[in-house]
Amino acid sequence: MIVAGQARRTIWPAAEADAVYVIDQRSLPHHWQELRLTDIAEVHQAIRAMAVRGAPLIGATAAYGLALQCRHEATDAALQAAKAFLDGARPTAVNLAWATQRMIDRLATVPVEARCDAAWAEAGAIADEDVAANEAIGEHGLALLREIAAKKPAGAPLQVLTHCNAGWLATVDWGTALAPVYKAQAAGLAVHVWVDETRPRNQGASLTAWELGQQGVPFTLVADNAGGHLMQRGQVDLVIVGADRVAANGDVCNKIGTYLKALAAHDNGVPFHVAMPLSTFDAALADGVAGIPIEERDARELTHVAGLDGKGELVEVQLAPAGCPAANPAFDVTPARLVSGLITERGRCRAEAGALRSISGAA
Ligand code: MRU
Repeated sequence: MIVAGQARRTIWPAAEADAVYVIDQRSLPHHWQELRLTDIAEVHQAIRAMAVRGAPLIGATAAYGLALQCRHEATDAALQAAKAFLDGARPTAVNLAWATQRMIDRLATVPVEARCDAAWAEAGAIADEDVAANEAIGEHGLALLREIAAKKPAGAPLQVLTHCNAGWLATVDWGTALAPVYKAQAAGLAVHVWVDETRPRNQGASLTAWELGQQGVPFTLVADNAGGHLMQRGQVDLVIVGADRVAANGDVCNKIGTYLKALAAHDNGVPFHVAMPLSTFDAALADGVAGIPIEERDARELTHVAGLDGKGELVEVQLAPAGCPAANPAFDVTPARLVSGLITERGRCRAEAGALRSISGAA
């Protein structure tokens, strides 16, 4: 996507194949900062600390982490240990373990001494395929947006509500939930996006608002609690969110607060769609509500908030009383019955076991 007039991806390899560069998303929207990651420990830390975040992007970053590991030791044992280390960085989004497993499977077919080059190429393929998948999600989602827009008075912009950041910053490019919005913009279909702030880390306020602004898409930031009210007033035509893991039964795990939006959408007859590359589908997990591990993050994300002070410095301030007990589950699971449909790179399908089996080709 375009940042300050330049086409960018969120991750790019060094020409010497000895490092990978990412945008430090903790500094956005205030500062543009790039990180150069040179080994698996730095990759793990960037994922764990959410310098990179978003399910598809952490998968691609972890793939490069294994490629960097190959420069030090590329034996089967070293790669398995590296995979376990990386997978533990963030447990909920299945794209991470999917990408590291794909790297392991590919490298198992290559002699140890040739693994560096093969790993670098495979990580690049994972990144490129993510871009292609998300662009295809954009095309399939655009068809859905056109169907819903056709039922509105001519000229009225389509009102989309989204939660968290499932835009290009959460992927290698295009995004998942926002890819249809970018395709609509390019096709001349008028769209306006309601952006949930997304407490506690505010990925909506800081990242979605920033990237929509960069692309020139009209949007309005709203408090997380405003969505039900907007839907009741007829101001939301559809909800589109991303996903961190979709189980075989169609249950969808996404950023905490997504479930409440699905409930409000259901109560108000607003379509609730989930955009997901098939790397987010966990065919081995039967039941999402029961089985998806939910990452518990530091309570400080809740008790403190970061932003610019009057001098333009990034600072963190305390919101809650000192020592306040706080719990911080980072994701929730929306049961399949509340999901109107899934948008994948292979087309749209129902959030249901048979439909998911057939679109994914899973056994
Ligand atoms: O904790 P984060 O910021 O990594 O959470 C991201 C989300 O929940 C996204 O909505 C999800 O990964 C889908 S991204 C295309």
